[in-house]
Amino acid sequence: MTGIGDLGDRAASGPITMLTAYNAPTARLIEESGVDIILVGDSLGNTVLGYDSTLPVTLAEMERHTAAVIRGTTEITVVADMPFLSYGVDLSESIRNCGRMLKDVGADAVKLESGPHTESLTEQLTDRGIPVMAHVGTRPQHAHQEGGLRQKGTTESEVAEIEQIAKAHADAGAFAVVIEHVPNSVGRSVTQAVDVPTIGIGAGPDTDGQVLVLADVLGLTEKTPPFSKQFGDVAGEMRSAIGDYRRAVEDGSFPGN
Ligand code: KIV
Repeated sequence: MTGIGDLGDRAASGPITMLTAYNAPTARLIEESGVDIILVGDSLGNTVLGYDSTLPVTLAEMERHTAAVIRGTTEITVVADMPFLSYGVDLSESIRNCGRMLKDVGADAVKLESGPHTESLTEQLTDRGIPVMAHVGTRPQHAHQEGGLRQKGTTESEVAEIEQIAKAHADAGAFAVVIEHVPNSVGRSVTQAVDVPTIGIGAGPDTDGQVLVLADVLGLTEKTPPFSKQFGDVAGEMRSAIGDYRRAVEDGSFPGN
């Protein structure tokens, strides 16, 4: 089991693996497979709840799905994403919302999409014993402001900003930094700039670990991001099983006598 405090040592012995999950049965399978960390991502919105972005996801939805993941697992580290506007508006409300994820729901840590508005919050949370995973590069909660989910870190000023945000959050106490959809060189330079493990998604091979969205890995999404990889065809399996069931009922071979 890789605890939050063991992540640095874990990175020294090989890449950290993290996958998203949103319910008990898939979380159980992920834990059984030996993956290091489950992220209950707010990608819940697009991949499970039928929203077209992560913005509508509520704190109550994140709490419910994080609780389900925790019920499905025994000891794997579970990180809960904090949804849009549940943090970074009012300091005490942010601390209480993040604290609830640990105290009432049972998560091991929270993840915040990082920016100037989360720098001192990260320090305040860490001081109170709430471990924070930072998130830089493409930040889906900023999609409206940034013209969609485009790759970040393609200009010198963007690279400098990403490195600065990552460093400031590591200095503020973040135990790890997710780096999303940036050129490989930026994944590398951020990893060199911070003294905590980095976990990349579309950030190249030189981060300390990798994360993907489970629906993409399983082949459940209609459109996979360019940096992702489909490792199975679960949608195909589901179509086939559902079709077999329908045909068996219609032709009378199920349930049989
Ligand atoms: O919500 C999510 O699944 C994430 C990952 C893409 C890192 O934040």
